[in-house]
This record gives sequence, structure tokens and C-alpha cells, in this order.
Amino acid sequence: MSIAEAASPDAERLEQFVFRAVDEVGATLNAALVVMGDRLGLYRALAGAGALTAAELAARTGTAERYVREWLNAQAAGGYVAYHAADGRYSLPPEQTVALTDEHSPAYLPGFFQIALGSVLDSPRITDAVRSGDGVGWHEHNHDVHDGCERFFRPSYNAHLIGSWLPALDGVVEQLERGARVADVGCGHGASTILMAQAFPRSTFVGSDYHAASIDVARVRARTEGVEDRVSFEVAPAGAYSGGDYDLVTMFDCLHDMGDPVGAARHVRATLAPQGTWMVVEPAAGDRVEDNLNPIGRAYYGFSTLLCTPASLSQYVGLALGAQAGPALIERVITDAGFDHVRRAAQTPFHLVFEARP
Ligand SMILES: C[S@@+](CC[C@H](N)C(=O)[O-])C[C@H]1O[C@@H](n2cnc3c(N)ncnc32)[C@H](O)[C@@H]1O
Repeated sequence: MSIAEAASPDAERLEQFVFRAVDEVGATLNAALVVMGDRLGLYRALAGAGALTAAELAARTGTAERYVREWLNAQAAGGYVAYHAADGRYSLPPEQTVALTDEHSPAYLPGFFQIALGSVLDSPRITDAVRSGDGVGWHEHNHDVHDGCERFFRPSYNAHLIGSWLPALDGVVEQLERGARVADVGCGHGASTILMAQAFPRSTFVGSDYHAASIDVARVRARTEGVEDRVSFEVAPAGAYSGGDYDLVTMFDCLHDMGDPVGAARHVRATLAPQGTWMVVEPAAGDRVEDNLNPIGRAYYGFSTLLCTPASLSQYVGLALGAQAGPALIERVITDAGFDHVRRAAQTPFHLVFEARP
């Protein structure tokens, strides 16, 4: 067989690939449709309502029937909504009801779609950056990236942070129960900070992030949740947040976004109490590219191309670890900054949790 013959496409495999792409184009458009359904209250109106016609759903949500009918058909074709052909009605199956309307469930999805759609909307800017090599900062993105980020991560933190991640760290829960000083660095809208503050009323928390608009939201959240007496927020880069002698420093899904993660890690080392702990939560990944060639790795490499890598490249040093850096690289950042002890304390399909000690 010649090289030309060996390289010629197989017609059947080509057809399969094209059909797979049809599904993916539908999925790409569905990101906008899910955000629309979430924003207009369409899923919430369907939840537990039995089977509705498009006109009934439109009337319940104050929307236009013709659009709602088209949206419902797209949702039914994708398996998000069930269509009852006998009477032309639509319903939301129980599993979809949880995933699309229950923001307390770890399976809650609208935030995932919101950050994905926000990232896609900003992609022309990233396309230019790929040409120039310039970075694009977290603060330069549209609000759906910031809001979607909070809504995407919060269900995981609700499910794991208090019940399993903190208990996996040596002696940390006992310290928090007695009353500890905690710095939550790169805290975004403060979801993790507030959750910890609610669970440990004797401890005090300082959340920080370089993005001023995120810190404004975090302050509002702390007031709404009634924890502002023990939680403060400041605008500060990870390499220069205030205070010291912290019993616990946390970083949730942000170390790899930083331009100078080793510099940030050195600041953590300098601001920790001698017996203090640094908890680092990073996206789940293996060390080798081939370990990450799966649906979760695909989503994270996508976010990494559109959000994380440009964010890091926009900052001093621009190390650009990427969202799929993997445990070996993360542990190297930690030890390069002078931490003698680091171990992987917990993991979920989406997250790795590291414990570091001086
Ligand atoms: C993916 S978001 C995670 C936010 C939050 N920790 C959460 O879990 O919801 C990454 C955060 O890192 C912040 N960030 C990036 N580089 C930073 C730096 N050098 N110093 C402080 N914050 C930084 C961004 O502003 C953003 O809020």
C-alpha cells in the first residue's frame, strides 16, 4: 500500500465524523438555548408542572408562544425536555428538573452553560490573542463568565467543601471549629469564603481577588448571607493580599489562572502561621495529555484555551499552567515556593485537592 493510499479517508469514518459534528453543532447552539431557558424561567415553569403546551408555558412565563414552541422542539430533540406527541405537550423529566432547576444539587448545570456561552461570546478576542500571543485578563470578560463561574463551581463546593475536602486535611476542621484565621485567595464572588464562614462561626475570613467587580459582588453576597461580621473582602493580587499568621489559606480553581503562581505560593508561605495549611483546589487532570482526552478534559481544555491560559498570559511572568496542568506540575509550583510537605488529600471527577505545609 502506498503512502497516498494509506492516507486516503475512509468514507464510512468520514460520514460518522460528520454526523458526530451535527450533534456537536446542535450542542453548541444548545448552550445559548439553556441559558435562555434558565434566564426566562422556562425550565422552572416546566418543573413539576406536568405536561404543558407551548402556549401554556408561554403564558406562565410571559413569553411569546411562537419562540417558546421552537425552543421546546430544540429541547425535545436534545433530550432536555420530553415531547408527548399524542397531545402536543412537553414536560421536564425528574432528572432534568434537578439538573436544570435545583441550584442546591451538585448536578445543577445552568452555571456550566452560562460560563461556556460567555467564553464562546468572547472568543473573537481570544482568536486575536492566539495570533499575537497577548493575554486576555479575567477582568476583560463579559459578566456571564464571572457569574457563570460562581454558579458553576458553587454546587461542587456545596457538595464537597465542608463535608469531605476540609475533613481530608490534617487537623484543619478542628482548628476551624475552635476559631481560625482564613485567607481565601482568588475568591471571585466569594462562594467558597461564605460557605466556610457559615460552617465555622468562630473563624474569620478574608477573601481576596485582583478583580474589583468580583469583590463588589462578594461583599453583597456576604451581607445577604449575614456573615459580613466575620468575612471581609479586599481587591488584591495573590502575591500581595494583606494580613499574615493565617491558619488556613485556600485557593479554589485559580492557581493555574495566575501569571506567577510560584510568586503567589511564596506569598502564601510568608503569610501562613508556622502550623498553617495551604489548601489548593485545582481542576481534575492527569499529568499527561493522553490522560485528559476524555469529556471532562475536553471541557477543561476548552475553558483553558478561552479563559485560563489567556488570563495567565495577561499577567506578570505568564507561566500559563493551563487548567489541565496535572498534579505533578501543581505540586512542583508548591514545592518551588518552599513548601516541604504537599500531598493530594482528596479528589472528585472535577477537582483535585492538595494540602501543603511549610
Ligand atoms: C476560575 S475563577 C475562580 C473564582 C473562585 N475561586 C471560585 O471558585 O468561584 C479564577 C479567579 O482567579 C482570579 N485571579 C486570577 N489571577 C489572579 C491573581 N493574580 N491574583 C488574584 N486573583 C486572581 C480571577 O479574578 C478569578 O476570580
